[in-house]
Amino acid sequence: MNTDFVVLAAGEGKRMLGADPKVLLPIAGKPMAQHSLDTISEIEKSRTILVLGNQGREVKKALSTSKSTKFVTQRKQLGTAHAVKMALPKLRPSSVMVVLYGDVPLVEGKSLKKLIKSAEKGSLALLTFIKESPQGYGRIVRGSRNQVQAIIEEKDATKEQREIKEVNSGILAIKTSLAKKLLPEIKNKNASREYYLTDIVELAKNSGIKVQPLLLDDSDEALGANNPLELHELERACQRLSAKRLVNSGVNIADVNRLDIRGPFTASKGSFIDVNNVFEGSVEIGKNTKIGPNCYIKNSIIGDRVTVEANTVIEDSIVGDLCKLGPFARIRGGTKLEGQSELGNFVEANRSKIGKLSKAKHLTYLGDSNLGTKVNVGAGTITCNYDGKNKHKTKLDDGAFIGSNSSLVAPVKVGKEAYTGAGSVITKNVPPGNLAIGRSKQSNIKRKK
Ligand code: UD1
Ligand code: CA
Repeated sequence: MNTDFVVLAAGEGKRMLGADPKVLLPIAGKPMAQHSLDTISEIEKSRTILVLGNQGREVKKALSTSKSTKFVTQRKQLGTAHAVKMALPKLRPSSVMVVLYGDVPLVEGKSLKKLIKSAEKGSLALLTFIKESPQGYGRIVRGSRNQVQAIIEEKDATKEQREIKEVNSGILAIKTSLAKKLLPEIKNKNASREYYLTDIVELAKNSGIKVQPLLLDDSDEALGANNPLELHELERACQRLSAKRLVNSGVNIADVNRLDIRGPFTASKGSFIDVNNVFEGSVEIGKNTKIGPNCYIKNSIIGDRVTVEANTVIEDSIVGDLCKLGPFARIRGGTKLEGQSELGNFVEANRSKIGKLSKAKHLTYLGDSNLGTKVNVGAGTITCNYDGKNKHKTKLDDGAFIGSNSSLVAPVKVGKEAYTGAGSVITKNVPPGNLAIGRSKQSNIKRKK
């Protein structure tokens, strides 16, 4: 059977207290509703109908949708059932309709598939979860034989009903043919004077349609966000879910509650990620690589068996296999490290290439540099690459040895296996195999007593 998703994104999100449409607020670095749209793409033979209303144009522009996505407008926000009704004419007759709320973005494809299966058999399938503090959610009222009888919104609930901890995620599935029969019957006789989609439960029951609840194991999948504090909870839930998915794929995570991924991220088996790391943009981490605590890695590729020590920042760079970085290293600007190279504490590499087995282990700036293989850069070395107007290049050929505290005034080249003496200011190219000393000779002056 085909699956037609109706995604509700017309609401104002007044309780969020901000000017932006709620469904565009970022979770893990992307608009909330985009998460739902991306999950839908995992479902075969599916189509999406997006219900827009408040700031509809902005919402449509900000979301990336597939070619088959259809848009409908709900001019007045008269409730969730009314919003779904707007989408009915666009649904394929022999499909299952799945309703997703734009502010409930974390449901996983596998849960949706279970829900769809149950609806294909003719049931009204509901995704429910347990919430210890259920405030704000519709409560699931079950009968004597545990079957679902109704969903009661908080405003309409009795004191006893408010104690119920099983709540409605808002996500439901039903055959389109049945939805078309039931939805027009929903009335707005309730505390909010809104057409509640949740009333479909009682209507289904009265028409002899089986109501099949699916209680989620992981409540993180079903959290919604109506106010700023809930938005924070949603962010944490999203991060926890990504961390758990990584753990299940063989990645070792020190603490699933202390990891932040804001973009497409992959890590291979056997890698280890310590606490408080932030990954932004597109990041790839190879096999058996270790990322120490408090690192920030953005738009970069890290190879296999790499060690990144604590507090290292890597942006827009490529790190080859078996490299060692940090602690406190900063790699950026399209830098490429070939295998087994090392950049240690307080070393910055910018727009540079670091050849195989080359090392700069302490307190160094390498800007616009090209290091061959087995180059050793002593502590305190600086490439002076900027003259106030232009950037210039430094080339250190294979086996070059740069003495500590050298200033390499670019453009400059140190030849193969050449040396620079400690404390030298190198302004001229050094021929291969030479030792360059660019500092005044020491003179010892006897002091008068
Ligand atoms: C809703 C459910 C509640 C459930 C909760 C889960 C109803 C009546 N209540 O409550 O049972 O526990 O979600 O998070 O459905 N929207 C429209 N048009 C409208 C009204 C809403 O498009 O006229 C959209 C909103 O943009 C939002 C979603 O529907 O994305 C849900 O609306 P919201 O007002 O947030 O419902 P809740 O009060 O959270
Ligand atoms: Ca909501």
